[in-house]
Order: sequence, then C-alpha cells, then structure tokens
Amino acid sequence: MDLKVWPMPAKPHGGKLINRVASKSRLEKVLDEVNEFANISVDESLAVDVENIARGVYSPLEGFMVREDFESSLLNMRLANDIPWTIPIVLDVTREELRGISEGDVILLTHKNIPLAIMEVEEIYQYDKKEAALRVYGTTSPEHPGVVRIMKGGDLLVGGRITLLKPLPNPYERYTLWPYETRVLFKERGWKYVVGFQTRNAPHMGHEAVQKTALAIVDGLFINPVIGKKKPGDFKDEVILAAYRTLIDHYFPRNTVVLVILRYEMRYAGPREAIHHAIMRKNFGCTHFIVGRDHAGVGNFYGPYDAQEIFKEFPDLGVSPLFFREFFFCHKCGGMVNEKTCPHPEGDRVRISGTLIRQILEEGREPPKEIMRPEVARTILKFSDPFVR
Ligand code: ADX
Repeated sequence: MDLKVWPMPAKPHGGKLINRVASKSRLEKVLDEVNEFANISVDESLAVDVENIARGVYSPLEGFMVREDFESSLLNMRLANDIPWTIPIVLDVTREELRGISEGDVILLTHKNIPLAIMEVEEIYQYDKKEAALRVYGTTSPEHPGVVRIMKGGDLLVGGRITLLKPLPNPYERYTLWPYETRVLFKERGWKYVVGFQTRNAPHMGHEAVQKTALAIVDGLFINPVIGKKKPGDFKDEVILAAYRTLIDHYFPRNTVVLVILRYEMRYAGPREAIHHAIMRKNFGCTHFIVGRDHAGVGNFYGPYDAQEIFKEFPDLGVSPLFFREFFFCHKCGGMVNEKTCPHPEGDRVRISGTLIRQILEEGREPPKEIMRPEVARTILKFSDPFVR
C-alpha cells in the first residue's frame, strides 16, 4: 500500500470547487422567460449529472463536455488541459430532440416537465458509439450495462456550461450533503485525513473490514453509497441506507463516520470508473480513497484488481488510493483477514459472495455471521422486498 500524504484540505479536482447553481435573481429572470427557451428533456441519469456538475461533485467540469474534452478523455483519460478524467460526462440527444437548436443558443433542460437547468450550447457534435464504448468499457458487448446505455442513447452530443435552476426532488435529504458542506463538516470535526468509500451494496463483513482497516490509519471515514438507477438484483436504496445506519450505530465509534448519499448512475466501467469515483470523493474533501476487489465491475469484464492497477497512470490525481486484497473470514485466525495477513489454507476460509448473500436473504434467512452482521441482516429482512426487480 502506498500511503502518500497530500496537503490538507484536499484540493478540489482542478483546483476550484465548481458552483453552477443559479442565483435567486437569475432564477427569477429565467423562470419569467421560461417559455421563450427551446428545451431538451433529460432522463433521471442525465438530470443527476446536471446536479452533480452544478454542485461541484464533477469539478472542474462546468457543463457537459465539448468535443475536445470528450475525445481527450476517451483517448488520454484526461481533459484537454491534462487534468485526469476517465468517464465522459456528455449530453446525448437525437436529431429530433435538437429541433432547430444550434451552437450559441441558450436552452432549457427539463426533467419530468420541470425546468432543471439552463445550458449554453457551445458545440454539437457526432461521435462513434462503438469506439466510445470500447475506450470506456473495454468492450462493445451488449451484456455490459454501460455499453447498452451508450447504444440506446442519441447519436449527437451537446457540449456547454449549465446553470442549475431547481434541485431535483430528493427522498433522502437527511443523507444529503454537497462537497462544499462535507468540506466544512470534516473541518469542524478536526479530520485531517478522510478516506472515501464507494459502494452500491448493503454492507457485508468484507466491506466493514476494508473500511476499518483504512479508518485505523486516518481520522474519518466517508461512506458514500450510490443512490439511483441500479441493476435488477441490486439492493434498493432505502435498504442500503438502513443497513448502513445499523452498522454504524452498532459497530463504529461515535463521530468517526459520515454517511452521505451520492446520486449517480453507476457506469460499471471497472478501472476507469474507479478513477472517476476517486475524483468525486476528492471533491467531497477526501484525502484517501478505498479500492478493493472488483471495484465498480460487472460480470467478468474486468480482472479483480484492474481497478487498482490503473491508478499507476495517475500520479497527479491528488487523492491517495488505498488498495486492499479481498478480505474473507478465516476460522483459524478467527476474524476477517486477507491473503497478506492470513497464512491458512483455503479450507479454513469463508469467502464472501454477494450472490450468496442475496440468495440467503431472498429466502428470508440471516446469512452466517462470518459474512454479514446479524443486526444488519435483520434490518434488511424487515423490508418486504429488499431488491430491485
Ligand atoms: S462497487 O461496485 O461499488 O465497487 P461494492 O459496493 O460491493 O461494489 O464495493 C464497494 C468497495 O468495497 C469497492 O472498493 C470494492 O472493491 C470493495 N470490496 C467489496 N468486497 C470486498 C472484499 N471482500 N474484500 C475487499 N474489498 C471489497
């Protein structure tokens, strides 16, 4: 593990935390003239991107990518100005949706018929979907959910700055803080080093093991589950949050953990997505970021530790990755360990499989305590249907 130390507070990516939320006066003016703008309607996943841009989660992006940044992120995994950036953040549209909109226009982005943001259309450009899929996901297989997302999308991309008019309705206000707020919170708590944890799951013992191993060497743990559209079989958002609440209440010292949601649609881009995950948590104020086994992977598209290898290409990322080999329970050791800390043979080990946990919970049973805390399992089982269908 490479424990590089970065100066605190962690600088936002690109140096400045972006704020593209409309001022009150701008908002009133725009809402008065709302019928004069051409508009494009965006789905939930794009709407969430808009809010993340506006609130600085995607700093230094100020809008959807123009061609130069898009192509550079595909080819070099960096923006045109050389700042690391691995996942294109683009607004894709069909020709029909563009209906006379041209470069230089100011348009309205709406979500579910409600004005969401203003966009300055800087550039409209075509792109090669297959090449984009291959670069980002390493595959064009229709089995990959990220590839499907590209293929289903519009053929044109629209680049330009956005200004958020109205926040999206949010069922989890209680668990919502934006980067400028978490930065204040970490400071108030006196945390110099904060480790970020990405997840799309309810916590099992392997998650807790990496979290606690990391927490042992820093001041605070930032648990940041992804909330939003998921794959069938994934845990529902409310289940993940309730399960984490239980874990934190029972198994972490007070005031060592911050639990805040990240509204974001997983791309399942494995290594490239791990870098993107780290960048977002850097913007929230994390100095360190956990990357374990199969980070942000799907199926067998990536090797179990590919998402760690890629960090070698980004010595200038400005957030230190903490790498962990797979944690499992060892009967001889009597606890959670990994191949770096346990000398015992496979027969003594209980490996954690998300699929197995799901199967057991689907049958209404508690998984063995070696793989999931009983309190966490009971919290999950209180839900009549904990999984996305
Ligand atoms: S992910 O798609 O968000 O990466 P998940 O929520 O399961 O999936 O994982 C969250 C983090 O925990 C990732 O960094 C992942 O690599 C790590 N992780 C999950 N299980 C284990 C385990 N048994 N040992 C080590 N790391 C793990």
